[in-house]
Amino acid sequence: MVFRRVPRPLSRISASFMKKLIIAIDGPSGVGKSTLSKVLSHELGYLNLDTGAMYRAVALAASRQGIAAGDYAALQRLCDEIVIGFARKDGAEHVFLNGEDVSAVIRSPEISLLTAAVAACPEVRQAMVARQRELGAGGGVVLEGRDIGTVVFPQADVKFFLRASAEVRGQRRFLELRAKGVEVDLARTIAEVEARDAADTSRTTSPLRQADDAVVIDTTELDIPQVLERMFAVVADHRRRVERSQPE
Ligand code: DC
Repeated sequence: MVFRRVPRPLSRISASFMKKLIIAIDGPSGVGKSTLSKVLSHELGYLNLDTGAMYRAVALAASRQGIAAGDYAALQRLCDEIVIGFARKDGAEHVFLNGEDVSAVIRSPEISLLTAAVAACPEVRQAMVARQRELGAGGGVVLEGRDIGTVVFPQADVKFFLRASAEVRGQRRFLELRAKGVEVDLARTIAEVEARDAADTSRTTSPLRQADDAVVIDTTELDIPQVLERMFAVVADHRRRVERSQPE
């Protein structure tokens, strides 16, 4: 996806915000969640919580300790032991596992694959959801994931659910990888996106599902600034409704 500047008037929203909101962004892989939540949180002066990175950190820890994705008891113990943290470095959010910056290593194809399996473990989900609630409870946070609006914060102030066709998401991923010099095949990349969708939507615990009260944005034919414009309009609209409902 291309990135242009955020339209001007939108960046003024944060200054006039009284209540610090909880904003949920859910949707499948490759739909633009990471870029959008980064810009949205930055513009609002909010914390950006990439919940996928937390599951990835668990998968990395499991792989380093030789724990199999099917060993739920060991994964539960692991979640009790490890410390996952976030910190802003050079303007970007970094993920830490027991104090080590693992932001890059959790993105490898091996860890991505293992994460999908580890994220299906109910004990892991329970531990991560508890931590996400702790981190987001005070508001002033944009959480991106798969189950934020349905499970983690069903009472979130604003919920977005992003969609895009598997072809377009596969194509975006293909171009991203090619730009990094990785040899990839387009048809295979699209098939991988479809396989990830199937795994995300069919797991028993917290499958990817749109919350009934989520604002759905289809990003198939939109670029990042266009989606952001819609998101900021929804946030501004929420604020106006809250202000109108306050007693004079
Ligand atoms: O968003 P991502 O690609 O970094 O997510 C990595 C994996 O974690 C992916 O398989 C989906 C899963 N995940 C999840 O099950 N629940 C979340 N809230 C976030 C991610």
